[in-house]
Amino acid sequence: MDYIANEHRYETMDYRRCGRSGILLPAISLGLWHNFGNITPFGQQQQILRTAFDCGITHFDLANNYGPPYGEAERNFGIHMDRDWRPYRDQLIISTKAGYDMWPGPYGDHGSRKYLIASLDQSLKRMHLDYVDIFYHHRPDPDTPLEETCRALDQIVRSGKALYVGISNYQPEQAREAIRILRDLGTPCLIHQPSYSLLNRWIEQGLTDVLREEQVGCICFAPLQNGMLTGKYLHGLPADSRVAHDPRYLKPERALNEEILAKVAALNGIAQARGQKLSQMALQWVLRDPVVTSALIGASKPEQIIENVEAVHGAPFTREELDRIDAIVGK
Ligand SMILES: NC(=O)c1ccc[n+]([C@@H]2O[C@H](COP(=O)([O-])OP(=O)(O)OC[C@H]3O[C@@H](n4cnc5c(N)ncnc54)[C@H](OP(=O)(O)O)[C@@H]3O)[C@@H](O)[C@H]2O)c1
Repeated sequence: MDYIANEHRYETMDYRRCGRSGILLPAISLGLWHNFGNITPFGQQQQILRTAFDCGITHFDLANNYGPPYGEAERNFGIHMDRDWRPYRDQLIISTKAGYDMWPGPYGDHGSRKYLIASLDQSLKRMHLDYVDIFYHHRPDPDTPLEETCRALDQIVRSGKALYVGISNYQPEQAREAIRILRDLGTPCLIHQPSYSLLNRWIEQGLTDVLREEQVGCICFAPLQNGMLTGKYLHGLPADSRVAHDPRYLKPERALNEEILAKVAALNGIAQARGQKLSQMALQWVLRDPVVTSALIGASKPEQIIENVEAVHGAPFTREELDRIDAIVGK
């Protein structure tokens, strides 16, 4: 059936300015790393995307190697694009990335101009798009001069194949340098995409200061720590969880680690006292600092999205709650 978007979709989501730019991103964005490859039924993928947009999520995040197999999430997204999203293209921010291994040989990985430009051309073909809104260098490459990577990003914007560029997984000083080079080239860095969650606070050690000073946006990936911060592993291993159905990256020994589970249980107590789900509190927590533009979640079911977007309506944290959270997870 043809998709018609919920006409009230913009009424409940919070949109936050991305650094010093003209772009607003939804407080919650959706990533297609998991659940859009060849192990997830197409109809389920479609429902996840439709539900997200109906809830006001205007940003879908991909990468060349999302699958499985590599490229499959973009390939599927191309079909979704043709079926559902063409009429809404101008209401969407679609991103992709290159930086990890994608094809064999010396030109399918890292940060060369050769790789980035060829990879984006392939991504656009798979997604049936003329351009993406944001193209990222997916991870720093210690062996390619940063100038070369940044010049490739600049060329990509000038060629019209991306409207904006970003960096991902860069450490604070690498990020500052890339931001400076891109600014000098006349293509400002729109956004940084680092990992960040209650169980992973590395960006507070310098990166958030850099992004604040440079007025660059920040979209945090895995804010639910791959699902661990939903509390779903507190009572064993659910059959429909990521660990059970797609354990490529989240292994049982990590999800069921007793030390982590004790922290999750304590956090869950705070969320319950606040009258919200742990997932909602975890998302609200990463968004507490305005330097964070958006929390980039994954979802295996539409209901998870409906639950998660409620995070934007949570009561503000009290000082006491924040102190209790710090005491549980450490600073
Ligand atoms: N730049 C990078 O290097 C990089 C790296 C990793 C990810 N990313 C981006 O970040 C996105 C999100 O990563 P992620 O999927 O690991 O993030 P996440 O939001 O931490 O975890 C998402 C997973 O948690 C579970 N979940 C979500 N909401 C739930 C709820 N309300 N109740 C119960 N379970 C819930 C689902 O897994 P199950 O239901 O299957 O258990 C879902 O797939 C990716 O899609 C990608 O776009 C970027």
